[in-house]
Amino acid sequence: MSYRIISAAEAASYVKHGMNIGLSGFTPAGAPKAVTPEIARIAEAEHAAGRPYQIGIFTGASTGDSTDGILSRAKAIRYRAPYTTNKDFRTAVNNGEIAYNDIHLSQMAQELRYGFMGKVDVAIIEACDVSEDGKIWLTAGVGISPTVCRMADKIIVELNSQYGKAPKGLHDVYEPADPPCRREIPVYSPSDRIGKEYVQVDPQKIVGIVEVCKPDEARAFTAPDEISERIGHNVAQFLIGDMKRGIIPSTFLPLQSGVGNVANAVLKALGEDPGVPAFQMYTEVIQDSVIALIREGHCKFGSTCSLSVSNECLQSIYDDIAFFKDKLVLRPSEISNSPEVARRLGLISMNTALEADIYGNVNSTHVSGTKMMNGIGGSGDFTRNAYISIFSCPSTAKGGCISAIVPMVSHVDHNEHSVNVLITEQGIADLRGKSPVERSKEIIENCVHPDYKQILWDYVKMAGKGQTPHCIHAALGMHETLAKKGDMRLTNWAEF
Ligand code: COA
Repeated sequence: MSYRIISAAEAASYVKHGMNIGLSGFTPAGAPKAVTPEIARIAEAEHAAGRPYQIGIFTGASTGDSTDGILSRAKAIRYRAPYTTNKDFRTAVNNGEIAYNDIHLSQMAQELRYGFMGKVDVAIIEACDVSEDGKIWLTAGVGISPTVCRMADKIIVELNSQYGKAPKGLHDVYEPADPPCRREIPVYSPSDRIGKEYVQVDPQKIVGIVEVCKPDEARAFTAPDEISERIGHNVAQFLIGDMKRGIIPSTFLPLQSGVGNVANAVLKALGEDPGVPAFQMYTEVIQDSVIALIREGHCKFGSTCSLSVSNECLQSIYDDIAFFKDKLVLRPSEISNSPEVARRLGLISMNTALEADIYGNVNSTHVSGTKMMNGIGGSGDFTRNAYISIFSCPSTAKGGCISAIVPMVSHVDHNEHSVNVLITEQGIADLRGKSPVERSKEIIENCVHPDYKQILWDYVKMAGKGQTPHCIHAALGMHETLAKKGDMRLTNWAEF
C-alpha cells in the first residue's frame, strides 16, 4: 500500500490549535482510539508552555474515553457537537468550560455541510480496511464519517486490526444531496440497501495510516432490575393492546429503541413476551439485548448506525458474521435517524425520559433544568416522526427523593405535541387523542409513584381551570423543594 504508515503522535501533529476535527463512529463503537490521546498530549505540553491549544470536535454521537474523556481532562476541547455520555466531558460542560452544541443527530452531517459549524480540518476515521483508490471500510459505527471525510482537508485513518476485516460488508453508506437538489431517501423497508459498503474518499487527502489493535471502549449496562423489567413488561402490554385494537398492523411495525439501561431492559422484555411478534428494527444503536433477539429469531432485521454492544457481544457477532450479514446493516446517522424515513416506515419509537410533566412534555437531557446529563441524541428525530412515540422511565429516581413526573418539566426536549405514550413501572398513560387536562389525569392516575400522587393531585387542584392549567409561581415547586430539602416528597404547596 502506498499510504504512509505514521505514528499516532505524528498524526496528532497535523491538528493545530483552533482546528476542528471530524471523527468516525457513533457511541464508542467505531470511534478513533489512538490519535486523540496524542492530541491531548500536545494540548498538555502547549498549556504547560503557556500557549493556548483547543480544538472543535464533530462526531456522530458519543465517543469513548480516548476522545471525550482524555481531551476533556486535558482541557483541549473548545467546542463539541453533538451527543456525548462521558462523565468528565459532562463535568466540564456543566462548569461552563466547553461550548457544547447538543443538536438532533440526524442534523449533524447536514449542518456541517450547510456551513453552520465551520470547517472540518482533519478527519480521523477508524477503518478495518482501506484501498489504494481511497475506499475506506468502517468498523462498528458509521456516524458522520462520509461527510467529514468529504469535507476535511486531511484524513487520518486508524486501521484497527482488532477484529480483522470482519466488519466489511455490514455498511450501507449514502449521503443525500443538499437542497434544492435533495430527493427522497429511497429506504422503503428497514433492510433496503441504497449505498456503498465503503466510504469513497480522495486518496490524496489521506496523510497517513495509524496502525491500531484496540477494542471499542464499550460501556457496561446494569442487568435489568425489577423496576426496568416492569417497565419493559408494560411497554410490551401496551404494544400488544394496540395490535389487538388494530392500531398497530398484525405484521407489526419497525421499532426504534433509545440508549441506556431502561431501553436495554425494554427490548429484552419485548423479545421475551410471546404476544409480541418477531419484529424489525430501524434505529440508531443496537445494544446487546437486540443481538440476542436476532439470534433467537425475535428480531428479524436490525438497521442501525452502530453496534453499541459489549466487546464480548461484538466479538461474537464477528465470529458469526455469515449469520449476521443479512440481518444487520450499519448506516450514516442522517439515514438511520432520518425524519423522512422514520415517518415513512411508521416507526414505534421508544426512548427514555429523565422527567416528564403531567401534560406529556419530556425532559431527556437536563437534571433539574440546568445540568446536562448526556444530550438529546436521536430521541427527537424519532419522537417527532414516529407512528407511535413512547417514553418510559422509572417513576422515581435517587431512592425515591425525585419524582420523574412533575407539574412542569424543568427543561423541554420533547413536547406535548409529539409524545404519545408515557410508561413507568407503575403503568401506562396513553396520551393520544386527549386534551392537556385529560392527559394530566391519565398520567397521574397511571404513571406516578404512590408517594407523589396526592402531591400532584393537589397541584392540579391548585392550578384550577384553563387549556393547560398551571400555577406558574409553583410549577417548579417540586424541583425547588428538592434543591432546598433534598426530597420532593417534602413539597408543601402552601409554601409557594
Ligand atoms: N432527576 C435527576 N436525576 C435523574 C432523574 C431526574 N428526574 N431521572 C434519572 N436520573 C438519574 C438516575 O438516578 C441515574 O443516575 P446515576 O447514574 O447517578 O445512577 C441517571 O439519571 C440515569 O438514569 P437511569 O435510570 O439509569 O437511566 P438510563 O441509563 O436509561 O438513561 C437517560 C436515561 C435519559 C439519561 C438516557 O436514556 C439518555 O441520555 N437519553 C437521551 C438520549 C436519547 O434518548 N437517545 C435516544 C435515541 S438512541
